[in-house]
Amino acid sequence: MTITTNVVIIGAGPAGSLLSHILHRAGIESVVVERSSRSHVLERIRAGVLEWGSVEVLRAAGVGDRMDEEGHVHDGASLVWAGGEPLFLDINKNVGSHFMSYGQTRIQEDLYDAADANGTSFVFEAADVEVHDATSDRPSITFRKNGELERIEADYVIGCDGYHGAARQAIPDTVLRTFEKEYPFGWLGIMSETPPLPDLVYANHEQGFALASQRNPMLSRYYVQCPLTDNVEDWSDDRFWSALTTRLGSTLGDRVVTGPSIEKSIAPLRSFVAEPMRYGNLFLAGDAAHIVPPTGAKGLNLAISDVHYLSRGLIDHYGSGDDGTLERYSDMALRRVWSSVMFSWSLTNLMHRFPGQTAFDQRAQETELDYLASSTHAQASFAEQYSGIPFEIPVTC
Ligand code: APR
Ligand code: PHB
Repeated sequence: MTITTNVVIIGAGPAGSLLSHILHRAGIESVVVERSSRSHVLERIRAGVLEWGSVEVLRAAGVGDRMDEEGHVHDGASLVWAGGEPLFLDINKNVGSHFMSYGQTRIQEDLYDAADANGTSFVFEAADVEVHDATSDRPSITFRKNGELERIEADYVIGCDGYHGAARQAIPDTVLRTFEKEYPFGWLGIMSETPPLPDLVYANHEQGFALASQRNPMLSRYYVQCPLTDNVEDWSDDRFWSALTTRLGSTLGDRVVTGPSIEKSIAPLRSFVAEPMRYGNLFLAGDAAHIVPPTGAKGLNLAISDVHYLSRGLIDHYGSGDDGTLERYSDMALRRVWSSVMFSWSLTNLMHRFPGQTAFDQRAQETELDYLASSTHAQASFAEQYSGIPFEIPVTC
C-alpha cells in the first residue's frame, strides 16, 4: 500500500513530533513513522534543561502551557571545584537570559497530547524503515508494520530518527562527512523523589565529575562520572549518594536530600557531527545528525533549533514557494551545532577527571576555572554559550 503526503518524518522523538506539530499548525500534512511503541518513547528518561530559545519555540508552537506552569526558571548555574565554594554563573546578569528545567519526558507527553488533539498521523512500531530516491522529486520510505510492507511517498523525507536511525544511512559515504569523539568515561544518572538543590551544580572533584539537576520540586536528577566498564549493579544507592555528596563538596553535599533511586542508568559520552544535514530532498534533524556529551545540556536544544529552522524552510516552501531557507538549512543548522559541540566538549574537558590525567592537566583545569571565577569577560562568555547562541531566524508566533 502506498500513502502520499507532503512530508514524511522518520522518528517520533522530540525532533520528529515537534516538527510534525509545527507543520500541522501551518497546514502542511505529514506522517511520522517511529520504530518503537508510543509508551516506550514516553518512558525514556532524557535531558531536562531548555535554553530560552527552546522555551520560545515551544511556546510559539502552542505546546508551552504546562512547561510554563511546571518548569523551573533559573537565572544561572554553579560550578564547584578543588573543595572551594560554588561559583554561581549568572546568565541573567551577563546576557539577560534564563534557562528552564523541564524534562524531555514531559515535552514528549505535551507533543503527543497535541498530536492526539490535531489528529496528526503517527505510525508506531514500524520496522525496517528505508529511504528511497532521496535526490528525486518524489522521495519515499518503506517499512514493515504488522509484517506488511508499506510505502509513503512525499515531497520531503525528514530523518529525526536519532543516532542509530535509518535516514543518515541513505546518504552516500561520498557525500557525508562525519566527525566523532568518544570520551573515556560515562555518566551514571539517577532520579529520586526528593527535593532538589535550588540551582544546577556542576562539580569537578578528584574522584570525578558530578552534577545536581532537577525535574520538579519533588524530583531530583543527579549524575556522577563513572568508568565505562561499570554496570548499574556496581552502584548501590548508598554508593551513589556517598560519591555525589563527596564530589559536590561539603557546602552543597550536606544539603542534598537522599532517598531511594527510582531510575538508574549509565550513558557513554560522545561528540558526533554529520555534514551536510541535507541530501537532495532528505533532511536530517536532531540526534540523527549530531550527538553532544550531556555536559552542556545541548542535545535537546539542538534538536529544537534544527526543527525551528527546518519548519521555517518548509513553511516558506509551501507558503510562498521560496526555497531560500531550505537551501540555507544545513549551513545554518551546522553553525549552531558546532557552537554547541565546541561548548559541550570544552565543558566536558574542564569538569571531568580523565584516566591518566597528569598533575599538569589538573593545574590547567584549575587555572581555567580560577580564570572563570576572576574574569567577568570569561563569565559573560560562559553565560552566552550556556544559554545558547541566538537563532539566525527569530521565533515568531
Ligand atoms: N525507524 C524509525 N524510527 C527510528 C529508527 C528507525 N530506523 N531509529 C530510531 N528511531 C526513532 C527512535 O526510536 C526515537 O524515538 O527515532 C526517535 C529519535 O528520537 P531521539 O533519539 O529522542 O532524537 P531527537 O528527536 O533528535 O531528540 C534529541 O533526545 O536523545 C535525546 O539527548 C538527546 O535530548 C536530545 C534529544
Ligand atoms: C539533566 O537535568 O538531565 C541535565 C542537566 C544539565 C546537564 C545535563 C543533564 O548539563
